[in-house]
Amino acid sequence: MAVFTLSVNGRSHTVEASPDMPLLWVLRDRLKLTGTKFGCGQGLCGACTVHLGGEPTRSCITPVGDVGVQRITTIEGLDPHGAHPLQKAWIETDVSQCGYCQTGQIMTAAALLAKHPKPTDRDIDQAMGENVCRCGTYLRIREAIHLAAGQRKEVAP
Ligand code: FES
Ligand code: FES
Repeated sequence: MAVFTLSVNGRSHTVEASPDMPLLWVLRDRLKLTGTKFGCGQGLCGACTVHLGGEPTRSCITPVGDVGVQRITTIEGLDPHGAHPLQKAWIETDVSQCGYCQTGQIMTAAALLAKHPKPTDRDIDQAMGENVCRCGTYLRIREAIHLAAGQRKEVAP
């Protein structure tokens, strides 16, 4: 066991954990930030995506001992009122079905918009291609990202 001081959503937290404990479990079990989801646990689906130093990162395969001083942002930290442009666009576009993948989708999209404020379809598909949605919401995700970017297009069926 070791003691880590983590910067999560702009606040400092001290947690005791094994250095190889996945960041996902530190967030969910120790800090009670349960918005970040467990899907595959193998870095394959993207459900557990958070931002680490601004980069989309799979928290299920990131040992807490590797985090260091990097800023961690979870879905709870995107906007204090859940009113990030992507969250509003997600609602307006009615993206979510079962919802299980959606935290990871939004966090990946937020990192994309931070780098590409006006992404093309190709930019979106490249950035989002590794985030799996078993409900097949991909076209609505693309539409919501365009909406959030201020590029309203025809709503996909
Ligand atoms: S739960 Fe982390 S990538 Fe699937
Ligand atoms: S909304 Fe169900 S897995 Fe994506």
